[in-house]
Amino acid sequence: MKEDLEEIQRQALKALESASDLRQINQLKTEFLGRKGSITQCLRKISTVPPEERHVVGKLANEVKTRLEAAFKKAVGTLKAFDDRPADALDVTLPGRSAFRGNLHPITQIKEKIFEIFLRLGFEIVEGPSVELDYYNFEALNIPKNHPARDMQDTFYVSDDIVLRTHTSPIQIRVMEKQSPPVRIIAPGEVYRVDSDISHTPMFHQVEGLMVDEGVSFGDLKGILTTFVHQIFDANTSLRFRPSFFPFTEPSAEVDIRCVMCRGSGCRVCSQTGWLEVLGAGMVHPAVFEMVNYDTEYYTGFAFGMGIERIAMLKYGIDDIRKFYENDIRFLQQF
Ligand code: FA5
Ligand code: MG
Repeated sequence: MKEDLEEIQRQALKALESASDLRQINQLKTEFLGRKGSITQCLRKISTVPPEERHVVGKLANEVKTRLEAAFKKAVGTLKAFDDRPADALDVTLPGRSAFRGNLHPITQIKEKIFEIFLRLGFEIVEGPSVELDYYNFEALNIPKNHPARDMQDTFYVSDDIVLRTHTSPIQIRVMEKQSPPVRIIAPGEVYRVDSDISHTPMFHQVEGLMVDEGVSFGDLKGILTTFVHQIFDANTSLRFRPSFFPFTEPSAEVDIRCVMCRGSGCRVCSQTGWLEVLGAGMVHPAVFEMVNYDTEYYTGFAFGMGIERIAMLKYGIDDIRKFYENDIRFLQQF
């Protein structure tokens, strides 16, 4: 009988060890300690034990009973503590969540494509300040103070002599002041204008281009820009050179691309014209060369300035320029 009790205890503790929920524990408790349980049955048989041993066996039976009761109580407690753990406790068995991967802003992506094309054509990349002296933004570009041409670009003034640059053209002057021809550069940057509608934002990006050497002609300008448009869009893209005016180029042109939104039939993005302006360009005005002491007898050059947002809109079919700056992740993740 003594052995029986010890065996029951051993079995009960072992079974308890592998029990993993409350239901199993309760079932085991009934099995071992219940009214019809093994311990109870064992105790019932105590009358068959010789009287002189009864005292010892009885004591052992009570001990086993107490020990098992304590073990069951402890098991239930542990399980409860596990179930009551805080809701935010780490559940290491859950599958992992994949990390959010960002991507480059569409404007940055287009800017890098523009770089690639012009680097292949032998241009170098330079940069200039976005808070600029009036002298570089206007005067050295043949736009004197109080000249009506200043109205072409609504300007944010920091002080009388300092502006937020309205275009990337001042970088032309900064480059030519330091370097003699040949020059073949592109200059990216953010620019600012008091301007806001579906194709204009107060801050936008331009890439300036400048090429100066002996014998550079308008034909070179057309060739470079046509190559550029065919590479950034595709070889079937229609473009047109439309006569225009800039104080710092003569002759001047603006380049339009067939509106990709309406394919030329006219829509709100192209103001019903079927064309979208992407850049201004022209042959560098001799007055500009004089400001930087380039000899106009020997040198000619062309320059252009394109809007990166406009190119991105055309390339991705985006009908409102402001979407680039609302920072809606759902929009930005598409690129
Ligand atoms: C200029 O800024 C001249 N500096 C370009 C130039 C450079 C001409 C060198 C000759 C030689 P314009 O103001 O047209 O030109 O702007 C150039 C391009 O910037 C436009 O064709 C258009 O694509 C883009 N752009 C102009 N204003 C905005 C605006 N508010 N928001 C977005 N893009 C704009
Ligand atoms: Mg323009």
